[in-house]
Amino acid sequence: MGYITSAALEETGYVVLDSYNQELDPKEWLDIEYNDWKSSGDTRFAPLASAFGEIECNGFWNHVPPRTDKDGVWIPSQVEKAPILTRRAQEPGANVGRCRVIELQPNTYADCLYNLHQDDNNRLNPDGTGWVVRGFFNLSDDKDSFFVLRDNRTDPSGETRIALPAGAQLLIDTQRLWHAATHVGPDPRYCLITSWTSGPELDAYIEKYHGNPHAQNVEVAQDVLDAGQAEQSRRIAARAAALAARGRIEQAAMSEA
Ligand SMILES: [Fe+2]
Repeated sequence: MGYITSAALEETGYVVLDSYNQELDPKEWLDIEYNDWKSSGDTRFAPLASAFGEIECNGFWNHVPPRTDKDGVWIPSQVEKAPILTRRAQEPGANVGRCRVIELQPNTYADCLYNLHQDDNNRLNPDGTGWVVRGFFNLSDDKDSFFVLRDNRTDPSGETRIALPAGAQLLIDTQRLWHAATHVGPDPRYCLITSWTSGPELDAYIEKYHGNPHAQNVEVAQDVLDAGQAEQSRRIAARAAALAARGRIEQAAMSEA
């Protein structure tokens, strides 16, 4: 049968929406409650909607009963402190799964390449229903930071780098594309991340805000790109070696037992 997807995301897996005038809003993301939750770097998360309305960030499939990233439950204490962020997440009218603000400490392009990952938004998602994609609304004004998107984790060809000033709004099929942010700093980056179900509501929202599947690429010096790529290869190899060594040690321990 297949999933219901957005035609707008078919070509590149993402669209950049019209910029939002973030400067007019209070900094609601500084008032809400954060949780230590490590994901792709030195991060904390403040959920607005979670599996059962608790201030926690676990995937919905890790709860009982397990379910896909849909039907998130709004957390009253957080929504009260962040009504504008909540309204923005609800604006498309599409089903919302997880909705949270990420706080990311500064990192480097090499860190970002090592952090590249695909999300698991559609685990347990029933065939024939809407494919879950994610909105990223940059809240802090991170003019020199950028989001990196790749079709393949280790292949730099065709890499997309999208600028992250305050008000930048991206919609990404994060299960398809490898993604992570390069955040220059010096202050933490804040971004509202919402899981939305694809369908006519989301399509209308993409159209209303002129979803563009071909963002202007942020320019980065070739030597920085090359050094980042080399460092990613080095870290992946080091990690594989560490895992292999641990496997050997565990095997040895088991054979001694
Ligand atoms: Fe992700």
